Amino acid sequence: MIEPLYIKSREGLSTGPNIGKSRTAVEYLARKIGLETLRSNFPILGISVRGKPLVYLDNAATTQKPQMLIDAVNRYYSRENANVHRGIHYLSEKLTDRYEEVRTKVRGFIGAKVDCEIVFTKGTTEGINLIASSFALPRLKQGDEILVTYMEHHSNLIPWQIVAQKSGAKLRVLPITDDGLLDLSYIDEFLSDRTKIFAFTYVSNVLGTINPVRDLTKRAHEVGAVVIIDGAQAIAHLPVNVQEIDCDFFVASGHKMYGPTGIGILYGKAPILSEMEPYQTGGSMILNVKLDNTIYAHIPHKFEAGTPNIEGVIGLGSAIDFLNSVGMYNISAYEEALVSYAYQRLLEVPGINIVGPFEPRTGVLSFTMDCAHPHDISQILDEEGIAIRAGHHCAQPLMERLGLPATARASFAIYNSVEEVDLLIKALHKVRKIFG
Ligand code: ALA
Repeated sequence: MIEPLYIKSREGLSTGPNIGKSRTAVEYLARKIGLETLRSNFPILGISVRGKPLVYLDNAATTQKPQMLIDAVNRYYSRENANVHRGIHYLSEKLTDRYEEVRTKVRGFIGAKVDCEIVFTKGTTEGINLIASSFALPRLKQGDEILVTYMEHHSNLIPWQIVAQKSGAKLRVLPITDDGLLDLSYIDEFLSDRTKIFAFTYVSNVLGTINPVRDLTKRAHEVGAVVIIDGAQAIAHLPVNVQEIDCDFFVASGHKMYGPTGIGILYGKAPILSEMEPYQTGGSMILNVKLDNTIYAHIPHKFEAGTPNIEGVIGLGSAIDFLNSVGMYNISAYEEALVSYAYQRLLEVPGINIVGPFEPRTGVLSFTMDCAHPHDISQILDEEGIAIRAGHHCAQPLMERLGLPATARASFAIYNSVEEVDLLIKALHKVRKIFG
């Protein structure tokens, strides 16, 4: 583990010497994690875009994939393909073992107690929909409340709107401060014994805010609410331990943690998962089927109907191997230093407005410029080979709260470098020159 060596300070923002200091810190940590070698494991980082070396800063949308994952998926299709949990033959049995080994790997990675608490899904969205349909809908009734926050992605809002509409429960939304933090002065008003579900994001995909998940979970449990954490923007950036947080459910997506698209993780405490009805039915989720009745399989297989995304699971296993090889504490220390540097450098650009707090935050940096629309910023950056996202980021109620139609968003990952931040800043000065 890398020694913590860099303490951020609000007073230090945008002053030259501190920027110099923070650059040195990033470079030091880059050497510690072997950034150059690490980058060479991602073939796409070597390509050119519009004649310029790619600078990939759209990691909150999806991360790039390491060579070890590409090789593992290639090997799987070339030499290992079969179906899982079905065949009594060499390939199927071997692959079933590998598939289940990845479940064990996921369990270890997020600190769950037992393997059966890990369900493979298509992604965060499916995970939340599964909980909404199989846990919430059969249990909620008029008079009950579901609490979400103003900083939720649509995937952690719309399923709850539907549960509220169908069950008669009330959907409530915890406000945020102008700085982009949850406004905890409202927590007692919004969290009461009527609250049956509190669903919130660990890290905002727009603001970068890291929410105090352990405290929020504790507060929710004190009133008897079940806690669901959207971990999509946290899992590749912070060490996650679901037992320490004590949440009841935790969901995440493979593709945001250097893994494949179409694969996700749903963690649920075993006693809760066991009580839930299946989400989908069909092959592989049964113990015994008669024409008029079915006995379902035990968890987690009860929730994995049909042939699963085996390729996705194999790739996810490689992604976790990659993350473990760097170490989550190293990842969070490096990214924290890099983002702090980027934040301070962004403030050098005249007319820029960064959305979200200085801390506690991860590497999601949303901003606007007084001279240009976010889409124009994104387009000029694209001409420089720099990929960012611009738009509402699937969080329209949050945008409305911020009074913004859109933001430009640079989002960082472990392979980004201080030089790439410098290129971003240079390109933003170009935006200013063109539009300002
Ligand atoms: N949820 C992803 C993002 O924020 C797609 O970009």
